Amino acid sequence: MSTNGFEPQIVAFCCHYCASAAADLAGSMRLRYPPNILVIKLMCTGRIDLLHILRAFEGGVDGVMVAGCLEGNCHFISGNTQAKRRVQYAKQVLESIGVGGERLEMFNLSSSEGPRFAKIATEMTERIRNLGPSPVSRQKKEVVK
Ligand code: FES
Repeated sequence: MSTNGFEPQIVAFCCHYCASAAADLAGSMRLRYPPNILVIKLMCTGRIDLLHILRAFEGGVDGVMVAGCLEGNCHFISGNTQAKRRVQYAKQVLESIGVGGERLEMFNLSSSEGPRFAKIATEMTERIRNLGPSPVSRQKKEVVK
């Protein structure tokens, strides 16, 4: 919990085969990680595109994680390398529109890395907590007032 009461909302787009399995493993190992992360399961991170990421921010999240298989281990061969390129591009777009590229990060992990998933989720939550609310969600709240 932050001192100013801000608790970020973070979406984690996780591939079915590795990252999502690692998140499930973290749960079954009863590892603690912040409840700020909403896992959205995809068959492969190769499915992710710029619009998914922008829509998540438009929807009010403060940070986005994309988590796929280790490089060379994607079950769809090159999905995670395509996702890596798209995430790099999306970071540039987020930077240019004032949201900030550091609110988006891609991770690669295997299905057996439950503890690492918990660590990544904790570190990402801390990073976004330090950045504060996304400018998009701040503006949205002001418009809706
Ligand atoms: Fe995991 Fe492609 S199946 S990133």
